[in-house]
Order: sequence, then structure tokens, then C-alpha cells
Amino acid sequence: MNPLLIVANLKSNKTLLEAKEWLEIISTINKEIIVCPPFTLLSMFKQYIDEQKLPIKLGAQDISQFDEGPYTGEVNGRQIKEFADFVIIGHSERRTNFGENDEILKKKVEQALGSNLEIIYCIQDETIFIPQGIKIATYEPVFAIGTGRPDTPQEAERIAKIAKKKGVKTVLYGGSVTSQNVKSFTSMEHIDGVLVGGGSLNVNEFIKIIENA
Ligand code: PGA
Repeated sequence: MNPLLIVANLKSNKTLLEAKEWLEIISTINKEIIVCPPFTLLSMFKQYIDEQKLPIKLGAQDISQFDEGPYTGEVNGRQIKEFADFVIIGHSERRTNFGENDEILKKKVEQALGSNLEIIYCIQDETIFIPQGIKIATYEPVFAIGTGRPDTPQEAERIAKIAKKKGVKTVLYGGSVTSQNVKSFTSMEHIDGVLVGGGSLNVNEFIKIIENA
């Protein structure tokens, strides 16, 4: 069995001050988790984690499909690697709101692999193409994201099994994970952890999620 992986996706939330307060409290439980803050907060997170020698690992929420160069607003793989070891690619919010398709995602995967970033690749259902080189995938059905309506652990388990057959080593579940339902997912044989959006924003709820997982 793989070790349990808990990922916090802070999405487009938290100012510097709010994030510092969150981090100070989360650091007290001294657990190995992955946190994916907005780009603006990565530097502060890294400095704090290094200074306090915390077991927290960092991920970016996105990566440029291009190498460095004239791409206004983009952050490239080498820049991310200075702060983080992971990157989320293929989130449905990026597919829906920013027009990311399989072709763009393939380029992002290439950039991430070229920069030695570990990819957390989001799959919305069993039909989603999983590019080569993906070791961690998250099953995140669109209807469950931010709605308070999680998928059933049985369906998540079914998709996790399929993803593993396709060569993915670690499969997470994401979508309305709470401290109340987290164990129902992590107790499934092929589910190795969770990716938590809304439930990670309140630090006390997130600590409960980690403790109950
Ligand atoms: P949620 O988001 O926990 O807020 O539903 C999950 C996700 O985006 O993966």
C-alpha cells in the first residue's frame, strides 16, 4: 500500500497575512502533506517551511505550457522548481475557465517533466487521456467540486482501479472532501489519499481532515 497523501489546493484564496496564520497553525501538527498555494505565496511558504524544518511539501497550481520567454503572465517550470516539487495539471477549473484542452495539457506535462516537477494530474472521469510519465492522478468528478456533493467511495474506487491499470502509481480522490467523509475514501483499497479544496481553507477543518484520513 502507498503511504497516504493529503494535498491542499488553496486555489485563488488567501492573502499573505491569512496564509501565514494558516501555516503557523498547520505546522503545529507536524504532518507530511502537500500544499498548493497561489504563486504569490510560494516564496513565503518555502521560507517558513525551510526555517522551521517542516515536513510540508509544496506544489504549484499551474505551469506555463511554454519555456521561459515572452509569455506575459505565465510562470514556467524552472521558476516553479525554485519553490516547489509538485504541480497540479488538468484541473477541471482550468479546462472550463481557461480553455485548457488535452493538447495544452500535454505541453504542460512536458514542461513539468523537463523541470523535474512531480505532476498531480486531474482526471474528471475514466475517459480522460492520461499522458505518459504521470505517477500521481486525482479523480475529481466535476459535479463534486465545491458542491458539497462528493462522489461515492465505491465509484471513486472503481475509477482509481482503472487509473492504476493505466500505469498511475498513486491515485487520490478530490471533490467535497470533509473531515466527516475523508475516511470513506482513504479506506478504499486503490485510493491513496485526497486532494482538498474548500475543506482546506479553514485550518481547523483541514487538521481534522488530516487526522481522520
Ligand atoms: P473541493 O475542490 O474540495 O472544494 O470540492 C476539490 C478540487 O478542486 O479538487
